Amino acid sequence: MLNFHTPSPIAILGTGGVAQDLARGLIGLGHTVMLAGRDAADAAQRLAAFSAETGARTGSYAEAAAFGAAVFLAVKGTAAEAVLHAAGPALAGKLVIDATNPIADEAPDHGVLRFFTDRNDSLGERLQAAFPAVKIVKAFNTVGSAHFVRPSFAGGPGSMFIAGNDTEAKAAVARLIEAWGWEPYDVGRIEGARTTEPLCQLWCLPGFLRNDWVHAFKVIA
Ligand SMILES: NC(=O)c1ccc[n+]([C@@H]2O[C@H](COP(=O)([O-])OP(=O)(O)OC[C@H]3O[C@@H](n4cnc5c(N)ncnc54)[C@H](OP(=O)(O)O)[C@@H]3O)[C@@H](O)[C@H]2O)c1
Repeated sequence: MLNFHTPSPIAILGTGGVAQDLARGLIGLGHTVMLAGRDAADAAQRLAAFSAETGARTGSYAEAAAFGAAVFLAVKGTAAEAVLHAAGPALAGKLVIDATNPIADEAPDHGVLRFFTDRNDSLGERLQAAFPAVKIVKAFNTVGSAHFVRPSFAGGPGSMFIAGNDTEAKAAVARLIEAWGWEPYDVGRIEGARTTEPLCQLWCLPGFLRNDWVHAFKVIA
């Protein structure tokens, strides 16, 4: 299993803000990174300046899946399953860190995001069920991506929730979470994503209501 302490090739399926923030953080730890979009040539063009600055490569979903010792999924939630299909067989046996949320296309209700899943279901579970050979770990979905890497909240390190069925895969993600200045908080098997995906609704609410995007969750005892 990949150890995030040893520089490794890491794939990121996605080219948006989340993908770029993950890429910067991973490159900062010495990893080599490939970001992927629906159209590899278009992704290369859109990310030309980012690639020149950071050294990140670009490619197709399948190229990135083959490249990465581990793979981040950082695409629109409605497209997540299709993107994993496009990534193809190279994903088999690999750790896939799922940062997506099941946000529906409809507008929020008074600041509360609409989901296309219900309370006894989650996108993380749907993806794990659809791709049983992949080791899905749900993480990095409960805070804005600007805060992923070494955030400085007045209240100290926040909790980064991890859900997944593979203990070793979760331990690897926990090492990365610690390296980025967070406290890993294990919410069990992938069904735990039912409890962490809605935290995205709670995290975004102050943003939509009063443009407050600087906060994180912390479990205290
Ligand atoms: N924004 C945050 O701070 C934050 C924090 C935690 C988690 N998340 C979650 O992380 C994921 C990525 O968020 P984001 O803000 O970076 O970007 P986004 O707008 O949610 O997604 C953009 C990415 O989705 C890809 N995509 C694939 N198929 C698509 C389709 N059919 N329609 C539209 N886009 C498609 C795009 O591909 P192309 O490259 O081809 O355009 C692009 O890379 C989301 O699931 C989000 O809920 C977001």
